[in-house]
Amino acid sequence: MQLTLGLALLSAAVSVHGHGYLTIPSSRTRLGAEAKLDTCPECTILEPVSSWPNLTVAAAGRSGPCGYNARVSIDYNQPGSAWGKSTVASYSAGQTVDVQWCVDNNGDHGGMFSYRICQDQALVDKFLTPGYLPTDAEKQAAEDCFTKGTLPCTDVTGQSCGYSPDCQQGQACWRNDWFTCNAFQADSRRGCQGVDGSAIGSCFTTISGGYTVSKKIKIPNYSSAHTLLSFKWNSFQTGQIYLSCADIAITGGTGGSQSSASASVSSTATATTLSTSTTSAGTSASASCVAVSNVAVTFNELVSTSYGQNIKVVGSISQLGSWNTASAVALSASGYTTSNPLWTTTMNLPAGTTFQYKFIKVESSGAVTWESDPNRSFTVPTGCSAASSVSATWR
Ligand SMILES: *[C@@H]1O[C@H](CO)[C@@H](O)[C@H](O)[C@H]1NC(C)=O
Ligand SMILES: *[C@@H]1O[C@H](CO)[C@@H](O)[C@H](O)[C@H]1NC(C)=O
Ligand SMILES: *[C@@H]1O[C@H](CO)[C@@H](O)[C@H](O)[C@H]1NC(C)=O
Repeated sequence: MQLTLGLALLSAAVSVHGHGYLTIPSSRTRLGAEAKLDTCPECTILEPVSSWPNLTVAAAGRSGPCGYNARVSIDYNQPGSAWGKSTVASYSAGQTVDVQWCVDNNGDHGGMFSYRICQDQALVDKFLTPGYLPTDAEKQAAEDCFTKGTLPCTDVTGQSCGYSPDCQQGQACWRNDWFTCNAFQADSRRGCQGVDGSAIGSCFTTISGGYTVSKKIKIPNYSSAHTLLSFKWNSFQTGQIYLSCADIAITGGTGGSQSSASASVSSTATATTLSTSTTSAGTSASASCVAVSNVAVTFNELVSTSYGQNIKVVGSISQLGSWNTASAVALSASGYTTSNPLWTTTMNLPAGTTFQYKFIKVESSGAVTWESDPNRSFTVPTGCSAASSVSATWR
């Protein structure tokens, strides 16, 4: 039986690795390769782990839902210079979307793969914060959330969700919520390559040429100005899992965050070194640090102004004037230059507070111009960090 044979080959196959990564939408890994920072995008591997037959038993470790490439020491769970700061695609809730990953010719070891979206914005935000590397506990919490948010093959009307011919009823691979490769052995039926049957070199890999693997997914009924689509491939022949993720926006759904894509939230360096053990819920802290009750939140807004104009921030909480522009908080232009038109202010806010806000431009006459919709939103981080910041550009 193919399955038994595959398991028997596992030890013989250790030097021949499966290799692949998400290419459409452009994953952080793809962007890393295009920026020439990652010299082997297909080498973002979680190993050695139990990848089969239980597809979800392996701990995410430092790979997290976005992957860690040990070859080039890049952790894609953190925004980098070439990825993670903005979204690469915007979808609408309920939309059917073409997605694609790329498998290397030298490492096509069959198996199963899935696309996932985590609908807990607070968990995902940890992966969107420039300068902040999520802890292993945060990576695992997010990975569990992505597992729960698996986008079933069967959600797409008309899509064939067949099982691999190597699967039989009763086996762990007999599940059609995940996608399956054409075969689990890259023999005459051509493992994952056989899904598209495309030509070698149809997508970019660095080892021996890539083959596209295309599927369709249905975007869930959820909204977020910036979230992640995570791809996970469990290799059948090797104890390896491949993870990558893409920064996307989802509009028109319920729940989630309505915050502006142009507003990014960042923790300070102090926060990064201290907040090593915030739980997924952000409620407890380890003995090595003390959870703070108030956080100094810095609002940075880039906006060109002329003499007599002032920038203020107004929002849904009393500290921000409860949307009353007469009680808005003024920003300072002390660091303003033509090339870096920065308005800034810092205020103490209770940890865990969630609020909506906008920046406003106030003329010397008192006339107010609001930023365009939607409202921005922010949750003051909980944990050990005593400082946090919001960086935005007028819109
Ligand atoms: C896979 O492992 C997870 C974690 O141990 C467990 O919760 C789940 O029930 C297992 N699934 C199967 C099909 O055995
Ligand atoms: C999302 O769910 C809401 C509430 O159940 C519903 O009104 C809306 O039509 C749904 N949207 C889509 C795109 O399915
Ligand atoms: C922004 O918040 C205000 C106050 O709650 C609300 O009236 C307005 O509709 C919100 N704007 C959008 C686009 O949601």
